[in-house]
Amino acid sequence: MPHSVSARAPGKINPVLRVGSLLHDGYHELFTIFQALDVYETLSVTEASEYSLSVGGDVVLDQVPLDDDNVVVKAARALALAGGHSGGARIHIDKRIPVGGGMGGGSADAAAALVALNELWGVGFDTAALHQLAAPLGADVPFSVLGGTALGQGRGGDLEPLVAGEFHWVLVPTSHHLSTPLVYQTLDRLRGGGIPPLPTEPSSDLVAALARGDASALAGHLRNDMAPAALTLHPELAQTLAAGEDAGAVASMVSGSGPTCAFLAHTTSHQQEIVAGLQARGYRALATRSVAQGAHLV
Ligand code: C5P
Repeated sequence: MPHSVSARAPGKINPVLRVGSLLHDGYHELFTIFQALDVYETLSVTEASEYSLSVGGDVVLDQVPLDDDNVVVKAARALALAGGHSGGARIHIDKRIPVGGGMGGGSADAAAALVALNELWGVGFDTAALHQLAAPLGADVPFSVLGGTALGQGRGGDLEPLVAGEFHWVLVPTSHHLSTPLVYQTLDRLRGGGIPPLPTEPSSDLVAALARGDASALAGHLRNDMAPAALTLHPELAQTLAAGEDAGAVASMVSGSGPTCAFLAHTTSHQQEIVAGLQARGYRALATRSVAQGAHLV
Protein backbone atom coordinates (compact mmCIF):
# COMPACT_ATOMS: atom_id res chain seq x y z
CA MET A 1 0.00 0.00 0.00
CA PRO A 2 1.42 3.46 -0.90
CA HIS A 3 1.92 5.77 2.08
CA SER A 4 -0.93 8.33 2.72
CA VAL A 5 -1.30 11.36 4.98
CA SER A 6 -4.25 13.68 5.72
CA ALA A 7 -4.30 17.28 6.93
CA ARG A 8 -7.04 19.81 7.40
CA ALA A 9 -7.08 23.61 7.38
CA PRO A 10 -9.72 26.10 8.52
CA GLY A 11 -11.72 28.65 6.57
CA LYS A 12 -11.81 32.19 7.87
CA ILE A 13 -13.87 35.27 8.38
CA ASN A 14 -12.57 38.84 8.42
CA PRO A 15 -14.44 40.76 11.16
CA VAL A 16 -12.45 43.78 9.97
CA LEU A 17 -11.36 44.12 6.34
CA ARG A 18 -9.95 47.50 5.40
CA VAL A 19 -8.64 47.86 1.84
CA GLY A 20 -6.03 50.49 0.93
CA SER A 21 -4.59 51.44 -2.42
CA LEU A 22 -3.66 49.24 -5.33
CA LEU A 23 0.04 48.36 -5.15
CA HIS A 24 2.41 47.96 -8.12
CA ASP A 25 2.18 44.14 -7.94
CA GLY A 26 -1.59 44.23 -8.58
CA TYR A 27 -2.46 43.57 -4.92
CA HIS A 28 -4.10 45.96 -2.48
CA GLU A 29 -2.71 46.93 0.85
CA LEU A 30 -4.83 45.47 3.64
CA PHE A 31 -5.52 46.00 7.30
CA THR A 32 -7.58 43.03 8.43
CA ILE A 33 -8.50 40.87 11.38
CA PHE A 34 -8.64 37.19 10.44
CA GLN A 35 -10.51 34.64 12.51
CA ALA A 36 -10.23 30.89 11.78
CA LEU A 37 -13.55 29.00 11.79
CA ASP A 38 -14.42 25.35 12.38
CA VAL A 39 -15.28 24.80 8.72
CA TYR A 40 -12.41 22.73 7.35
CA GLU A 41 -10.97 21.54 4.08
CA THR A 42 -9.41 18.06 4.43
CA LEU A 43 -6.69 16.91 2.05
CA SER A 44 -5.46 13.33 1.65
CA VAL A 45 -2.15 12.88 -0.13
CA THR A 46 -0.64 9.61 -1.36
CA GLU A 47 2.82 8.95 -2.77
CA ALA A 48 2.86 8.87 -6.60
CA SER A 49 5.34 9.64 -9.35
CA GLU A 50 3.13 12.34 -10.98
CA TYR A 51 0.68 14.92 -9.62
CA SER A 52 -3.05 14.22 -9.82
CA LEU A 53 -5.94 15.98 -8.13
CA SER A 54 -9.53 15.01 -7.29
CA VAL A 55 -12.19 16.96 -5.42
CA GLY A 56 -15.33 15.97 -3.52
CA GLY A 57 -17.48 17.51 -0.80
CA ASP A 58 -20.81 19.08 -0.02
CA VAL A 59 -20.32 22.42 -1.82
CA VAL A 60 -20.73 23.47 -5.47
CA LEU A 61 -17.57 22.10 -7.10
CA ASP A 62 -17.77 23.13 -10.77
CA GLN A 63 -15.49 26.19 -10.34
CA VAL A 64 -12.58 24.16 -8.92
CA PRO A 65 -9.75 23.70 -11.47
CA LEU A 66 -8.26 20.19 -11.49
CA ASP A 67 -5.10 21.07 -13.41
CA ASP A 68 -1.89 22.95 -12.57
CA ASP A 69 -3.96 26.14 -12.06
CA ASN A 70 -5.17 24.75 -8.74
CA VAL A 71 -3.32 26.45 -5.90
CA VAL A 72 -2.83 23.01 -4.30
CA VAL A 73 -0.59 21.91 -7.19
CA LYS A 74 1.29 25.22 -6.97
CA ALA A 75 1.78 24.62 -3.22
CA ALA A 76 3.01 21.07 -3.87
CA ARG A 77 5.51 22.20 -6.52
CA ALA A 78 6.80 25.03 -4.30
CA LEU A 79 7.33 22.62 -1.39
CA ALA A 80 9.00 20.00 -3.59
CA LEU A 81 11.38 22.60 -5.01
CA ALA A 82 12.27 24.10 -1.63
CA GLY A 83 12.54 20.69 0.08
CA GLY A 84 14.53 19.01 -2.74
CA HIS A 85 11.86 16.37 -3.30
CA SER A 86 11.38 14.76 -6.71
CA GLY A 87 8.21 12.90 -7.61
CA GLY A 88 4.58 13.81 -7.17
CA ALA A 89 1.49 12.96 -5.19
CA ARG A 90 -2.10 11.86 -5.61
CA ILE A 91 -4.13 14.57 -3.85
CA HIS A 92 -7.79 14.43 -2.85
CA ILE A 93 -9.61 17.49 -1.46
CA ASP A 94 -12.73 17.09 0.64
CA LYS A 95 -14.25 20.58 0.36
CA ARG A 96 -16.58 22.01 3.03
CA ILE A 97 -15.83 25.72 2.55
CA PRO A 98 -18.05 27.34 -0.12
CA VAL A 99 -16.06 27.81 -3.36
CA GLY A 100 -15.63 31.47 -4.35
CA GLY A 101 -17.40 32.46 -1.16
CA GLY A 102 -14.94 34.87 0.45
CA MET A 103 -14.03 32.39 3.18
CA GLY A 104 -10.53 31.41 2.08
CA GLY A 105 -11.34 27.88 0.86
CA GLY A 106 -8.64 27.77 -1.84
CA SER A 107 -6.13 29.18 0.63
CA ALA A 108 -7.08 26.50 3.17
CA ASP A 109 -6.48 23.84 0.50
CA ALA A 110 -2.99 25.24 -0.14
CA ALA A 111 -2.22 25.41 3.60
CA ALA A 112 -3.37 21.82 4.16
CA ALA A 113 -1.32 20.69 1.13
CA LEU A 114 1.86 22.22 2.59
CA VAL A 115 1.31 20.50 5.95
CA ALA A 116 0.30 17.12 4.48
CA LEU A 117 3.08 16.92 1.88
CA ASN A 118 5.70 18.17 4.34
CA GLU A 119 4.85 15.03 6.35
CA LEU A 120 4.33 12.62 3.43
CA TRP A 121 7.66 13.48 1.83
CA GLY A 122 9.54 13.78 5.13
CA VAL A 123 10.65 17.32 4.21
CA GLY A 124 10.67 18.34 7.88
CA PHE A 125 10.06 22.11 7.47
CA ASP A 126 8.91 23.94 10.61
CA THR A 127 5.92 26.31 10.69
CA ALA A 128 8.10 29.36 9.96
CA ALA A 129 9.46 27.72 6.77
CA LEU A 130 5.93 26.69 5.69
CA HIS A 131 4.78 30.28 6.31
CA GLN A 132 7.46 31.54 3.90
CA LEU A 133 6.27 29.14 1.21
CA ALA A 134 2.63 30.08 1.91
CA ALA A 135 2.87 33.83 1.27
CA PRO A 136 3.47 33.77 -2.53
CA LEU A 137 0.64 31.23 -2.99
CA GLY A 138 -2.12 33.65 -1.96
CA ALA A 139 -2.95 36.46 0.44
CA ASP A 140 -4.85 34.20 2.88
CA VAL A 141 -2.60 31.11 2.82
CA PRO A 142 -0.24 32.18 5.65
CA PHE A 143 -3.23 32.79 7.91
CA SER A 144 -4.70 29.37 7.19
CA VAL A 145 -1.36 27.84 8.25
CA LEU A 146 -1.39 29.93 11.47
CA GLY A 147 -5.07 29.78 12.54
CA GLY A 148 -6.56 31.47 15.62
CA THR A 149 -7.21 35.21 15.38
CA ALA A 150 -4.63 37.51 13.85
CA LEU A 151 -4.04 40.98 12.49
CA GLY A 152 -3.07 40.82 8.81
CA GLN A 153 -1.28 43.64 7.00
CA GLY A 154 0.58 44.12 3.72
CA ARG A 155 -1.11 41.86 1.15
CA GLY A 156 -2.63 40.02 4.13
CA GLY A 157 0.34 37.76 4.87
CA ASP A 158 2.13 39.92 7.47
CA LEU A 159 0.53 38.38 10.54
CA GLU A 160 0.45 39.17 14.21
CA PRO A 161 -1.48 36.72 16.43
CA LEU A 162 -4.12 38.25 18.72
CA VAL A 163 -5.62 36.84 21.91
CA ALA A 164 -9.28 36.02 21.34
CA GLY A 165 -12.16 34.34 23.13
CA GLU A 166 -14.68 32.20 21.29
CA PHE A 167 -17.07 33.78 18.78
CA HIS A 168 -20.15 32.23 17.18
CA TRP A 169 -20.99 32.99 13.57
CA VAL A 170 -23.81 31.90 11.29
CA LEU A 171 -22.87 31.70 7.62
CA VAL A 172 -25.18 31.90 4.62
CA PRO A 173 -23.42 30.66 1.49
CA THR A 174 -24.98 31.19 -1.94
CA SER A 175 -24.68 29.09 -5.06
CA HIS A 176 -23.19 32.12 -6.87
CA HIS A 177 -19.45 32.49 -7.13
CA LEU A 178 -17.75 35.88 -6.86
CA SER A 179 -14.32 36.33 -8.41
CA THR A 180 -12.00 37.99 -5.87
CA PRO A 181 -10.10 40.07 -8.50
CA LEU A 182 -13.44 41.31 -9.93
CA VAL A 183 -14.60 42.45 -6.48
CA TYR A 184 -11.33 44.36 -5.95
CA GLN A 185 -11.64 45.96 -9.43
CA THR A 186 -15.24 46.95 -8.70
CA LEU A 187 -14.15 48.47 -5.39
CA ASP A 188 -11.46 50.57 -7.13
CA ARG A 189 -14.02 51.73 -9.70
CA LEU A 190 -16.57 52.69 -7.02
CA ARG A 191 -14.01 54.53 -4.90
CA GLY A 192 -12.22 56.46 -7.61
CA GLY A 193 -9.06 57.89 -6.01
CA GLY A 194 -10.26 58.85 -2.54
CA ILE A 195 -8.85 56.16 -0.29
CA PRO A 196 -8.39 57.08 3.38
CA PRO A 197 -5.16 55.84 4.99
CA LEU A 198 -5.34 52.45 6.73
CA PRO A 199 -4.93 52.21 10.49
CA THR A 200 -1.53 50.96 11.62
CA GLU A 201 -2.82 49.03 14.64
CA PRO A 202 -6.19 47.85 16.00
CA SER A 203 -7.85 50.09 18.60
CA SER A 204 -7.54 49.00 22.22
CA ASP A 205 -11.37 48.61 22.33
CA LEU A 206 -11.27 46.14 19.46
CA VAL A 207 -8.36 44.19 20.99
CA ALA A 208 -10.28 44.01 24.29
CA ALA A 209 -13.54 42.92 22.60
CA LEU A 210 -11.67 40.10 20.82
CA ALA A 211 -9.87 39.01 23.99
CA ARG A 212 -13.14 38.86 25.98
CA GLY A 213 -15.02 36.96 23.25
CA ASP A 214 -17.60 39.76 23.56
CA ALA A 215 -19.93 39.67 20.54
CA SER A 216 -21.82 42.86 21.51
CA ALA A 217 -18.58 44.82 21.76
CA LEU A 218 -17.13 43.31 18.57
CA ALA A 219 -20.33 44.21 16.67
CA GLY A 220 -19.47 47.92 16.78
CA HIS A 221 -16.09 47.25 15.13
CA LEU A 222 -17.21 45.02 12.24
CA ARG A 223 -16.28 46.59 8.93
CA ASN A 224 -15.75 45.28 5.43
CA ASP A 225 -14.57 47.79 2.82
CA MET A 226 -15.31 45.22 0.09
CA ALA A 227 -19.01 45.01 0.95
CA PRO A 228 -20.15 47.86 -1.37
CA ALA A 229 -18.40 46.14 -4.31
CA ALA A 230 -19.89 42.71 -3.46
CA LEU A 231 -23.35 44.32 -3.10
CA THR A 232 -22.95 46.10 -6.46
CA LEU A 233 -22.18 42.77 -8.15
CA HIS A 234 -24.86 40.87 -6.15
CA PRO A 235 -27.55 43.35 -5.02
CA GLU A 236 -29.67 40.52 -3.53
CA LEU A 237 -27.08 40.18 -0.73
CA ALA A 238 -28.80 43.18 0.91
CA GLN A 239 -31.89 40.99 1.48
CA THR A 240 -29.74 38.19 2.95
CA LEU A 241 -28.09 40.63 5.38
CA ALA A 242 -31.51 42.02 6.39
CA ALA A 243 -32.91 38.48 6.86
CA GLY A 244 -30.12 37.64 9.35
CA GLU A 245 -30.82 40.81 11.30
CA ASP A 246 -34.56 40.01 11.32
CA ALA A 247 -33.62 36.57 12.65
CA GLY A 248 -31.96 38.27 15.63
CA ALA A 249 -28.25 38.45 14.73
CA VAL A 250 -26.09 40.82 16.80
CA ALA A 251 -24.64 42.11 13.52
CA SER A 252 -24.34 41.10 9.88
CA MET A 253 -21.61 41.45 7.29
CA VAL A 254 -20.40 40.24 3.92
CA SER A 255 -17.56 37.72 4.43
CA GLY A 256 -14.33 38.81 2.69
CA SER A 257 -14.97 39.40 -1.01
CA GLY A 258 -18.39 37.70 -0.66
CA PRO A 259 -20.92 36.48 -1.51
CA THR A 260 -21.12 34.46 1.76
CA CYS A 261 -22.87 36.54 4.43
CA ALA A 262 -21.94 36.19 8.11
CA PHE A 263 -24.00 36.87 11.23
CA LEU A 264 -22.65 37.27 14.73
CA ALA A 265 -24.34 35.49 17.66
CA HIS A 266 -23.88 35.74 21.44
CA THR A 267 -23.97 32.03 22.34
CA THR A 268 -24.56 28.62 20.76
CA SER A 269 -28.28 28.77 21.65
CA HIS A 270 -28.60 32.27 20.14
CA GLN A 271 -26.76 30.93 17.08
CA GLN A 272 -29.33 28.10 16.74
CA GLU A 273 -32.16 30.67 16.87
CA ILE A 274 -30.56 32.63 14.04
CA VAL A 275 -30.03 29.44 11.99
CA ALA A 276 -33.70 28.49 12.51
CA GLY A 277 -34.87 32.04 11.67
CA LEU A 278 -32.85 32.10 8.45
CA GLN A 279 -34.00 28.61 7.44
CA ALA A 280 -37.63 29.69 8.02
CA ARG A 281 -36.94 32.55 5.58
CA GLY A 282 -35.66 30.05 2.98
CA TYR A 283 -31.89 30.40 3.46
CA ARG A 284 -29.29 27.69 3.94
CA ALA A 285 -27.47 28.55 7.17
CA LEU A 286 -24.42 27.04 8.82
CA ALA A 287 -23.40 27.40 12.49
CA THR A 288 -19.64 27.90 13.02
CA ARG A 289 -17.36 29.06 15.80
CA SER A 290 -13.86 30.45 15.92
CA VAL A 291 -11.02 27.98 16.46
CA ALA A 292 -7.41 28.20 17.57
CA GLN A 293 -5.74 25.68 15.28
CA GLY A 294 -4.42 26.41 11.81
CA ALA A 295 -3.54 23.71 9.26
CA HIS A 296 -2.69 20.43 11.02
CA LEU A 297 -2.28 16.71 10.41
CA VAL A 298 -5.27 14.47 11.16
O1 C5P B 1 -3.96 36.06 -3.17
P1 C5P B 1 -5.31 35.62 -3.66
O2 C5P B 1 -5.25 34.48 -4.61
O3 C5P B 1 -6.28 35.42 -2.55
O4 C5P B 1 -5.85 36.87 -4.44
C1 C5P B 1 -6.69 36.80 -5.55
C2 C5P B 1 -6.73 38.16 -6.23
O5 C5P B 1 -7.35 39.11 -5.34
C3 C5P B 1 -5.37 38.77 -6.55
O6 C5P B 1 -4.92 38.33 -7.79
C4 C5P B 1 -5.70 40.27 -6.58
O7 C5P B 1 -6.34 40.62 -7.78
C5 C5P B 1 -6.74 40.39 -5.48
N1 C5P B 1 -6.11 40.77 -4.20
C6 C5P B 1 -5.72 42.10 -4.01
N2 C5P B 1 -5.12 42.47 -2.84
C7 C5P B 1 -4.93 41.58 -1.83
C8 C5P B 1 -5.35 40.24 -1.98
C9 C5P B 1 -5.93 39.86 -3.19
O8 C5P B 1 -5.90 42.93 -4.90
N3 C5P B 1 -4.34 42.00 -0.72
